[in-house]
Amino acid sequence: MNTKEIKIIITEFTGTSELPEGERNLLQQAANSASHSYAPYSEFHVGAAVLLENGEIVCGSNQENAAYPSGLCAERIALFYANSKYPGVKVKTLAISAHADHFVIDKPISPCGTCRQVIAETENRQKSKIRILMQGETDTVNMTEGIANLLPLTFYEEKLKKK
Ligand code: THU
Repeated sequence: MNTKEIKIIITEFTGTSELPEGERNLLQQAANSASHSYAPYSEFHVGAAVLLENGEIVCGSNQENAAYPSGLCAERIALFYANSKYPGVKVKTLAISAHADHFVIDKPISPCGTCRQVIAETENRQKSKIRILMQGETDTVNMTEGIANLLPLTFYEEKLKKK
């Protein structure tokens, strides 16, 4: 038997003033996008802003449905929209922000498992890591370089190849 320990690295910024202006702006765009979410069921509003290598920023917000599983998270909407509008253009940074109607999100949001898998596919396709910025309703921001820190032992498409 062999027990392995997997190290993940998350950087915590105690305030957005510690971030470069471009990243503060990206988080602000994510927060603005959260205000455009359609979340009448969860009353939990998430926004995502994707910075592409060509300098374009594409935003998305969670969109819910009375048939709950038909809704989609902000991160996947932004990433799918980015690759639809600018196919093949690499994603450099993904900023995620959230607020709730009835409580304060007092720590940075962290993407759900399915969104982590989609971020992993994007990294694998573009062969470069994505810088991920996460914020709730406080000034604290978590940052990680690459999805492996959020999704160790990731499932990748090459595992589907027959030969
Ligand atoms: N949600 C996101 O948009 N992103 C996440 O990373 C976590 C959850 C949405 C899905 C649903 O509309 C609401 O937040 C509550 O789960």
